[in-house]
Amino acid sequence: MGESAMPDPNLPVDGARVLADLTALRAIGAYKTGVHKPSFSEPHMRSIEWLAARLPEAGLAPTIDGIGNVFGTSAKPGPKLLAGSHLESQNFAGWLDGPLGVVYALEAARVINPDSSLRGAVEVAAWCDEEGHFGHFIGSRSYVGAVTEAEIDAARDRSSDRPMREALESVGLGGRPRVTAERGRHVGYLEAHIEQGRTLEDSGLKIGVVTSIVGIWQYRITFSGEQNHAGTTRMAIRRDAGLALAKFCVAIDDSFSVLCGPRTVWTTGRITLDPGAPSIIPGRAEMLFQMRDDNASVIERLEAQLRRMAAEVTAEGRCSVEVERIRTGAPALMDATFQDTIEAASARFADGKSIRMPSGAGHDAQVLATIMPSGMLFVPSIGGISHHWSENTDDADIVTGAKVFVETCRRLLVLAR
Ligand code: GLV
Ligand code: MN
Ligand code: MN
Repeated sequence: MGESAMPDPNLPVDGARVLADLTALRAIGAYKTGVHKPSFSEPHMRSIEWLAARLPEAGLAPTIDGIGNVFGTSAKPGPKLLAGSHLESQNFAGWLDGPLGVVYALEAARVINPDSSLRGAVEVAAWCDEEGHFGHFIGSRSYVGAVTEAEIDAARDRSSDRPMREALESVGLGGRPRVTAERGRHVGYLEAHIEQGRTLEDSGLKIGVVTSIVGIWQYRITFSGEQNHAGTTRMAIRRDAGLALAKFCVAIDDSFSVLCGPRTVWTTGRITLDPGAPSIIPGRAEMLFQMRDDNASVIERLEAQLRRMAAEVTAEGRCSVEVERIRTGAPALMDATFQDTIEAASARFADGKSIRMPSGAGHDAQVLATIMPSGMLFVPSIGGISHHWSENTDDADIVTGAKVFVETCRRLLVLAR
């Protein structure tokens, strides 16, 4: 894209306003230096209302729909770019995972929408439950038409087991219609996020231009043995489901490291022993296991290995192992024009300190990419820490990212003329 077609706009991005907005959201549901805002909790709902109250400043009409998504819709003629992220957090986690992208989108709308010399508008979305308290990407998947009423009926809070219907009802969203995408309305979707890794920081770079987003596959692996007395049952005859699980975890690590791709990651995020008491041999054990890659064939190979290992343990006869896939997520490619545009905006506002990189974290952009061109940019995370309350980014990097984001929005709207 020629720079001559893109005159220097001197965009009036207000870095102090961006930081003030993020600080205001951080104060809602504050936990240590981070936040605790599970989906539909009181601080999550207050954050949603905070956003809805700010959208008119950007010429946007606010809507909160029946799944907790927030939309800011513009009546300005011309092309529309959708931009956003999410407002809920993981439990006791960081202040920027989600809000950064929402506040950048709000800032882009505040800068671009009132400017009559620019055709078109930025519309804002905050997707509900990106962090998967009730499922996975349930807000953005609802928008693209991929969530049935039956899925909502079955969804429960992973921490409290509270039904999603009850949660929706309690915050006044029960029975409210869900908004789905109006096909062809948007030229695409742009999301900003903290990197949540160390690639940018380690190389002194300021902007990650996301090329692809990993797919996430998740499994429930259940071990069944025999519950018995921890003092009287000789080691030789035990059928200890907890021990079988622990050995299985180690065996995964050994065999996957040979079969995986260069960026595959795998995690056992939760282990439950039943009944879970010091004097009882666990008769049942369960692990929630997740693997991620942007290459689906690598995942297929690893899943086959997982099932082979489970069959081998079962065949040994002490404990049986069942592998159940509970989540499949296709990897997503980010749009080439969006990538070029983010890079060009970085050349202008981040001294060209950008790098193209895949995302190892899941994002709503991978869901939006199923229906419209989508792109993402990252800003550095201090120490690469995220999904922890200490997550942080330098103020200067937050402001640089905001300028690159708003400029990317402007360029995408100019290109869409
Ligand atoms: C999203 O937060 C993820 O776990 O990648
Ligand atoms: Mn996030
Ligand atoms: Mn997250």
